[in-house]
Amino acid sequence: MSENFYRVLHYGALFFFLSGLGISLFTENTNKANKIITGIASLLILVAGMGLIAKALEIGHGSSWPAWIHAKLTIWALLSIGGPVLAKRLGKGRVAAFYVILILATTAAYLAVNKPF
Ligand code: HEM
Repeated sequence: MSENFYRVLHYGALFFFLSGLGISLFTENTNKANKIITGIASLLILVAGMGLIAKALEIGHGSSWPAWIHAKLTIWALLSIGGPVLAKRLGKGRVAAFYVILILATTAAYLAVNKPF
C-alpha cells in the first residue's frame, strides 16, 4: 500500500471516528452499528498511522520511534477508550467533553505536522 493510501485512510477513519463519538454523545438512539463503526474507525486510525510510520517516515520494523509518535499513541488511546466511556456515563458536560476531544485530536494533528520532539 502507498503512502497516499494510508494518509487518506488516516483522515477518513478520523472523520468516521470523531463523528461517531459525536453521535454517541448527543443522540439518544445511538445504535450498535454506530458503536461498531466508531470502534472499527478507531482501529483504522491506528493501522493507517502504522502504515504512515513505514511509508511516510520510512521507519522500519525494529527501529525506535520519535517521541511525538508516543504522544500521538497516548492521545489515540485516551480518545478510543475514554470517548465511548464518556458517551455512556456522562450526565452533564457533554458539550465540554466533545470540545476537549476535538482539542486533543487537533493536538495529535499538530504533533504530526510539526514533529516538535
Ligand atoms: C486521534 C488520533 C490521531 C489524530 C487526530 C491524527 C491526526 C493526523 C493528521 C491530521 C495527520 C496528517 C498530517 C499531514 O497530512 O501532514 C497525521 C499524520 C500522521 N499520523 Fe496521525 N493522528 C492520530 C493518531 C495517530 C497514531 C495512533 C499514529 C501512530 C500509530 C499516528 C501516526 C501518524 C504519522 C506517522 C503521520 C504522518 C506524518 C508525516 O507525514 O510526516 N497518528 N495524523
